[in-house]
This record gives sequence, structure tokens and C-alpha cells, in this order.
Amino acid sequence: MKKKLTLFALLSVLALSVFTGCSSTSKTAAKQEKAKRPIMIQGPMPIEAEKFAGKLENVKEEKSGSFVFYLGTLDNYPVIVAKTGKGMENTAAATAVAIEKYDPIAIINQGTSGGHDPDLHVFDIVLGERTVNLGSLKTADKADNEGIDPTIWKPMDLMASEGSAGEDPNAEKIRYYDGDEDLLEAAKAVKDTYTNGKIVEGTIGSADVWNNEVDRIQWFHEKYGTSVEEMEGAAAAQIAGAYDVAFLGIRVLSNNKTNGGAYNPETASANQEYVYEVVKEYISTMENK
Ligand code: 5AD
Repeated sequence: MKKKLTLFALLSVLALSVFTGCSSTSKTAAKQEKAKRPIMIQGPMPIEAEKFAGKLENVKEEKSGSFVFYLGTLDNYPVIVAKTGKGMENTAAATAVAIEKYDPIAIINQGTSGGHDPDLHVFDIVLGERTVNLGSLKTADKADNEGIDPTIWKPMDLMASEGSAGEDPNAEKIRYYDGDEDLLEAAKAVKDTYTNGKIVEGTIGSADVWNNEVDRIQWFHEKYGTSVEEMEGAAAAQIAGAYDVAFLGIRVLSNNKTNGGAYNPETASANQEYVYEVVKEYISTMENK
């Protein structure tokens, strides 16, 4: 009897250890699942973020300062929509806070923009092969009463060195931030899902400025190669670059002064529908790697 009991005890211990072994394996799998780095989609205004946030599943809302983060999933993959607020400062801060808090694997900055290229029309979309800050400028050297002349202002690269950008001739160049290749590939792969306009690769220019002077717009188009302008992309690209996080800007034209394209706010949600397809595609390509 005693022998039988001991055998029973031994078997029970064995069974228990196998069981707990299994459950700790599934716990590890669950942890790995949780540890997936999220994809972050940024939109400045409510009309540029809330549509996408509404498409996520299991959404939880968090705030840091004035920045709102919608944490959810898309095809079981973690995706965060960030409502950053408008402009370079809001966007840079929201990007840094989000990277520190959520460690995203990739960031897409998307929303509306104004056309610099007369061949682009309202509802067309620009994939940011590169993004550039249009506000980093050095004026000409002019004395009292010599006037002002924006057409001879020079670009100023604030990332050229740690020294004075005003004195350094090497800083007199345009700084472009390249869009991430894998994100661009994913965006190109789902171009056909977008039927409201055409999708092109191009250059996105950003500054806290809304340019309505067609000659000035043409000046940027020629000197910087800009396809569109907006107020956020380059700020997000710069900070994403500082942390080595993959980045892409995706901008729909909501207006185009160069060809009379009148402002249409409906473009904001059309862009989010397309970016949703891009994110789905990116997730599927990541999971096949
Ligand atoms: N110039 C600058 N920003 C524009 N936006 C849309 N069109 C333009 C334009 N022509 C976007 C900016 C900002 C808000 C004012 O709209 O990115 O978020």
C-alpha cells in the first residue's frame, strides 16, 4: 500500500511539472506576443486621426500632455494612432514621447497637404520618398535699409554639425529625410486599392507656414523638388531618425494653389482608408519575414 502511494505521489508530481511546464511555455508565447513593437500612425487634426482610430480593435485611449494615443490592434498586431496636434513642435514632441513610451517599430505620418506640383490634384496622394524642413533657412546678408529678399535665402541644415549653422558654409544645404524602403514597398503594393486619385512618390515639405504665394510655392518646387507642403512630416522624420525608427510620410492633397484645386476636408478620411491598407500590407510582410 505504501509503495502504491509513493508511486501515485511520484506520478502526480510528474504530471504537475509537465502541466506547469506547458503553461509557462504558453505564458512565454503570450509575453512574446505582447512584446511585438507597435506600428504608429500619426495624424495632426481630429479629422486626420479619428477615422483610423475607429478602425482599430481593442482600443484603449492614453494621453501625454495634449497628445492622444489610441492603442489597439489591426489583424492582431499592435497599432497606435497618435493625434499629435498641428505643426512641427507638437509633432516632434509627440513623436519623442511616443517612441520613449511605446517603442514603435515604424511610424507613418499622414494627413492633408497643399500641392506644389501642378500635375497633382486634390485627392491625389504623395508617398514621401523623402521629407524636408522648408523652414530651415538662412537669409542674405543685408545692411540697414537694404530690404528683404526671400528668393535668395539659402537652405540651412541644422543637422550638419554641432557648431554654428549660421557661420558654417557646410550647413548651407538641404537636409532630406529618406522614407523607409519597406514602408514604401508596402505602400506601393496596395496603390490599386485607392480609387479617388493617383498615388505618386515624391518629396514632402514641412514648416509652420501655409504658403499661398504661387511664386514662392514654385520656388520651393524648383529648389527643393517638393510635391506638396504640410506642417508636420519633417519634424516626425527628424525625431524618428534620431531614434533610428523606420519612417514614412503619406500625404493626400486637400488643396492645390498652383492649379486652382479648392480645399476639400473629405480628403483626410480618404487618406486614412488608404493608409489602413498600407498598414495591413506592412503587417503581412513583417509576419512573412
Ligand atoms: N500648407 C500647409 N499646411 C497644410 N495642410 C493642408 N494643406 C496645407 C497647406 N497648403 C495641413 C497641415 C496642418 C494643417 C493646417 O493642414 O499639415 O496640419
